[in-house]
Amino acid sequence: MAYCFVTRQLPGTALERLAAVHEVDIWPERLPPDPATLRKLSVGAAGLLTMVSDPVDASLIAASSGLEAIANYGVGYDNVDVEAATERGIRVGNTPDVLTDATADLTFALLLAAARKLPQAIATVRAGDWITWEPMAHLGAEVQGATLGIVGLGRIGQAVARRAQGFDMNVLHTGSRSGSRISLESLLQRSDFVSLHCPLTPETFHLINERTLALMRPTAILINTARGPIVDQPALRTALENGTIAGAALDVTDPEPLPANDPLLSGPNLIVAPHIGSGTRAARERMADLAVENLLAALAGRRMPHQVNEV
Ligand code: DGY
Repeated sequence: MAYCFVTRQLPGTALERLAAVHEVDIWPERLPPDPATLRKLSVGAAGLLTMVSDPVDASLIAASSGLEAIANYGVGYDNVDVEAATERGIRVGNTPDVLTDATADLTFALLLAAARKLPQAIATVRAGDWITWEPMAHLGAEVQGATLGIVGLGRIGQAVARRAQGFDMNVLHTGSRSGSRISLESLLQRSDFVSLHCPLTPETFHLINERTLALMRPTAILINTARGPIVDQPALRTALENGTIAGAALDVTDPEPLPANDPLLSGPNLIVAPHIGSGTRAARERMADLAVENLLAALAGRRMPHQVNEV
């Protein structure tokens, strides 16, 4: 029996299966443990179940001498210093596939909402400003037949491309499929909608910045359901203000949570959702199943079913 620390209560029954085999502590609060508390609570743990809001950095890993496994609840694992974990022989796992469709659905929900200015239109009803049917009011962009540029054609990017086919969209991408891959610059210049699906890495940090935003069409809409720091937010704020692009719909921001007084939020034609891409009950339960399977395997000395490093 090993000691495991889980940084949040999870939906479904997966944690019961973990607790049947190991000693498990679950952080009970709505807010995650702050970094110092997380570090303190990780000392003595053999297994950690963490998520996007938990920085599992080199200092935490160095302080947790008995740590054998980090199961991250999410397909993204940029919150974990994988290199530091690998150096110490600690297995790191993620939860791919099970959230692909939920995240692709949310991407399309944001795309459609931004195209049709849905939040603004709904707000006028609540404000009592729906005084008549107006030929010129709330005019949005047509999605059918438009060009969608997908930056990063991994599992989620491909699921978004499949949805786009149902809307007769013309899909461009920066993925590695031979033949159809185009450069980021060309994709930005030719797309009506640009949707980000690449992981956050040193190479993709601020991939969307003043220069690349300037390549986009003034009618284009940016969608980000990947990671906030892929977009330079002050540059996006300026681009929205100046009409360099027509709108943006973000499920992820930098930082998270985004403070209610962040200057970005006063930008025009902007939708911000609180990182809910994988947020269906079924997807979040399956993520918990995978994270627990990862931990159980690693603590039994086996490779995780979804291990992201070689140890
Ligand atoms: C993911 O799975 O990466 C989600 O963004 C939650 O972290």
